[in-house]
Amino acid sequence: MRNLISIADLTNDEIEEIFSLADGADKLRTDRSASGQIMATLFYEPSTRTRLSFESAMQRLGGSVISCSDMKASSTAKGETIADTAKVVSSYADVLVVRHNWDGAVQAMAEHAEVPVINAGDGSHEHPTQTLCDLYTLRREKGDLKGLTVVVCGDLKNGRTIHSLVYALARFGANVVTLAATGMELPQYVIDRLEREYDYAMGPVASDDLSAVVTETDALYLTPKQPHQLALFTQVDKVIQARLNTMASGLRYDAFYMTRKQKERMKDGSAANSYPTIGPDFLNEKRFQNTVVMHPLPRVDELSPEVDKDWRGIYFKQAAYGVPVRMALLKFLFDQRSVTPSASSKETGAYRDSLSSGSKCRNLNCVTLKESVSTQRRMELYFADEIGVLISRCGYCDHRFKVELIGHVKSKRYCAYDIAFAETVRAWMRHGELAVFDSIKEAEELGYEPYKTGPQRVLMEEAEISAALADVSEQILRDCQDMDRLTIVGVRSVGSRLAQRIAGEIETRLKRKPELGEIEIYGSGNELKRIPPADPDAGPLNLKDREVILVDDVIFTGRTVKSALSIIFRSGRPKSVRLAVLIDRGHREIPVKPNYVGKNIPSSENERVRVRLHELEQGEQDQAVIYSIVNPIDDVETLARNEERAALS
Ligand code: NCD
Repeated sequence: MRNLISIADLTNDEIEEIFSLADGADKLRTDRSASGQIMATLFYEPSTRTRLSFESAMQRLGGSVISCSDMKASSTAKGETIADTAKVVSSYADVLVVRHNWDGAVQAMAEHAEVPVINAGDGSHEHPTQTLCDLYTLRREKGDLKGLTVVVCGDLKNGRTIHSLVYALARFGANVVTLAATGMELPQYVIDRLEREYDYAMGPVASDDLSAVVTETDALYLTPKQPHQLALFTQVDKVIQARLNTMASGLRYDAFYMTRKQKERMKDGSAANSYPTIGPDFLNEKRFQNTVVMHPLPRVDELSPEVDKDWRGIYFKQAAYGVPVRMALLKFLFDQRSVTPSASSKETGAYRDSLSSGSKCRNLNCVTLKESVSTQRRMELYFADEIGVLISRCGYCDHRFKVELIGHVKSKRYCAYDIAFAETVRAWMRHGELAVFDSIKEAEELGYEPYKTGPQRVLMEEAEISAALADVSEQILRDCQDMDRLTIVGVRSVGSRLAQRIAGEIETRLKRKPELGEIEIYGSGNELKRIPPADPDAGPLNLKDREVILVDDVIFTGRTVKSALSIIFRSGRPKSVRLAVLIDRGHREIPVKPNYVGKNIPSSENERVRVRLHELEQGEQDQAVIYSIVNPIDDVETLARNEERAALS
């Protein structure tokens, strides 16, 4: 039984097959290939196009449709779970088409349904059938998808149509330029998947080319890793600038994909930001003379009706293709009913957390939090790089988080995850001995005790740390070209404390506070924010044209810096980014060179350096310490030997 939850559930060949079927939709209509079949549409959110085109498609195939006109008037209002609804409706219909406001809800329903389930949009997550319509439209207008450049524009954070679309464009070898409204950038989990599964790399492009039509935003360019590979840099220097400009000016924009601000998914306040629009200016630009304008609709005021009259405005065609494409999809799924699934997203090292302990999804709109009884606990673990950060991915909403605390099931010990543990953790995973925790409290409540560490050596005492920060601040001021543009951004948590201290130093010298921000890598969604966060009038942090100082406590492999830079560049193109660290441990996997270093301390992989700050650890003094890790495996073996000995005596 085949479901369609994510666009990744279909291979490229299958998508092509669906498109061929759609080309012959008239034949499907005469064949009445769904005669005697019933489709149930369960829409927990408003819809016009998706629902009506699905219903029309089913009827044109000779099938029939049952539906609840309003899910609020269904048993949901009495408290029925989505699992029960899915189970029950499965016995009334041969296929379920579901739209829901929670991320991952359709996946959860598919796990309880007895018939194929099609995702007609789940929260901010995905909308794969819209993507089929989008690709079909693009292909009819522009021919081969490979090598096309598509600008996706607007609310890239909450727009589910965008997420499915960029994955599909990546798979078909198209380039994507992102033009997000401020604070609505493409989320880290989407970028992570593009990089990991589809080998895409991202680099900034100069947006001068686009600024005539779209204001307020900066562009980022996503492209297959080959042949363009952008160097990583901490400073936007002239050479890189020139290279990016050439790249950008060489671009031919084949399509603009505009989207509406997803107000219903925003907390109060964030909906008020400025938003890019497409109007007559766009039509008059010579370089867009062959650029088609698409929109999943409904539009609000981001797309002017003037574009309707121009041949390039193809969104009504795109909506009309909804029927033949969905007829083709239904026919395809009905024919596949007896076939076992062949396609699924590439999952390397996926790990199903069957333990009662383990991390939970932190996306507040995820079905696993909204209705845990309808879901299983399923966080999949993988390494973000060959040696590297350990990430847990939610099997429902696809959000990704950095694993902070790990435990060993047999020895009942836990510790903070560190890349030096990668090999050990791989072995634990293979043996089903790994536990993952969201907090120390959780680990301890489950009876885990902390691992022992080797002896500690103090690297920097309080006075030395303050002197180093004063010195770094001095240097920053010396290099800063324009105080009005200075923004200090720290990596959470220690880095952002250090950033605040540096800002304090600068304030004492200049009697004014520089702008301050914080970056959370693999956090719960809000990757870049102001500190203090309180002032609602200040709006989201926008780094466009700013002189950014990125602050972290320790640099070792350079990976954190790489991720932080990717987040920074997504929020607008800064004038420059310089890196300040308290301690440089040497050993780089990613070629980044900090501009300001408090102290150089060469150290090896099995050592750990920790910076303790009194703001974060009550009763502690500021201190940087180094210690070696007692290899958890050795520790487990010692433990086992001790137990054996104890048993013998
Ligand atoms: C989209 C949706 O529901 O995600 N609409 C659609 O299906 N055509 C886009 C939107 O609501 O903005």
